[in-house]
Amino acid sequence: MILLNDARNIEDYLENGGFKALRRALEFEQDEIISEVESAGLVGRGGAAFPTGLKMKFVKNEKNTPKYIIANADEGEPGTFKDRGLMEKNPYQILEGMIISAYAVGAKKGFFYIRYEYREIAEKIKNKVKELHRLGILGNNIYGSKFSFDIEVVLGAGAYICGEATALMESIEGKRGYPRIKPPHSTQRGLWGKPTLTNNVETLANIPVIINMGGEKYHKLGKEGCSGPQLFSISGFVKRPGIYEYILGEKTIGEAIELAGGVDGNFKGVMLGGGASGYILNRDYLDMPLCFSDAKKRGVALGTGDIIVLNESVRIWDMLLNIAKFFEHESCGQCFPCRYGTRRMREIIEKIVNGKGTSEDIKKLNATARAMKIASLCPLGKSAMTAYESAMKNFHDELMEVIK
Ligand SMILES: Cc1cc2nc3c(=O)[nH]c(=O)nc-3n(C[C@H](O)[C@H](O)[C@H](O)COP(=O)(O)O)c2cc1C
Ligand code: SF4
Repeated sequence: MILLNDARNIEDYLENGGFKALRRALEFEQDEIISEVESAGLVGRGGAAFPTGLKMKFVKNEKNTPKYIIANADEGEPGTFKDRGLMEKNPYQILEGMIISAYAVGAKKGFFYIRYEYREIAEKIKNKVKELHRLGILGNNIYGSKFSFDIEVVLGAGAYICGEATALMESIEGKRGYPRIKPPHSTQRGLWGKPTLTNNVETLANIPVIINMGGEKYHKLGKEGCSGPQLFSISGFVKRPGIYEYILGEKTIGEAIELAGGVDGNFKGVMLGGGASGYILNRDYLDMPLCFSDAKKRGVALGTGDIIVLNESVRIWDMLLNIAKFFEHESCGQCFPCRYGTRRMREIIEKIVNGKGTSEDIKKLNATARAMKIASLCPLGKSAMTAYESAMKNFHDELMEVIK
């Protein structure tokens, strides 16, 4: 294991080489750290797969100060629970990654934003932050260097949208979690208008690994287009649901399901990349390697790395209705296409589930999907119809069977 090591206590973490990467990083120039991360090929594990080193470089190169860093642990995507496992089992590796990243970009203050429902974990992280202060690993002159850094733990606002980086910033600033219009990007104007680096907690846990191993060596873990370890939340109709760690590209979807005990029942399909904004796929995808570039070639995405397994008892329209209800509830309501579109989507799908769907309804759903994709302000509205569109492609006959 590279990420999911069990090191809940500082003694265990230090014994296994914990904070060695930080001590090493503090001897590097900031640009040297960033170039290690770039050569590692690490991309964000929060869903968008943005190159981490490049984002660090954007923040580092901004002249405006102070700069901030955010660890995103809002984890609201249905079917995603890997950040929870990581924070419970190996919290210091996330904190170490956060401190190294802060040093690399020149941030003196960080915020650890944790999903409201994970209150108990938030308390534990707060205690660990205090512990690191006592040990001189946080606070002034870390390990006797010129670098000073502090972390504040913030409990999330209890909304899926607050995981979106700019809504999250609004939330930290004490406002309603409305996503901001981009540009400017938060790397330029983030928290309180200052340059801000936002990373998923799993992304941050990779940083000490890269510093210890070296970017080039890390890059060799995996294959072209995807490198490093990734956590997968595997759930649904599978015999051993849980969090699994694999090197990217090493396993196919089918192999990952087998390693999770196999399907409970007869295989029907999977939802890949997130229970809300993910893709509903059929058996043709079982041989697809769990790798960003392979997914892209097949027109899908790994997203937050979850695989929800569906068996023959799952009716795809029922599943789409659940998803539509989720989006109607979680749309922040700031922009019309998503506020109204998510409601229309739920109403039409409900009509279909009740056996009253017509071909006109399918046309309306398609038009709603187009409008939301083009005109929604943030990725929530833009991706709300991904599940429907992918299901139409992969389960077309089943979906059209009930349409009059
Ligand atoms: C609706 C919505 C919810 C999101 N929720 C999360 C979340 O819970 N955790 C997370 O890390 N990123 C989430 N993101 C992605 C963040 O906006 C951002 O891309 C991410 O935190 C960047 O970190 P990374 O580059 O390490 O992936 C969400 C995005 C959207 C649109
Ligand atoms: S797309 Fe939806 S979630 Fe995003 S700003 Fe508009 S209403 Fe809010």
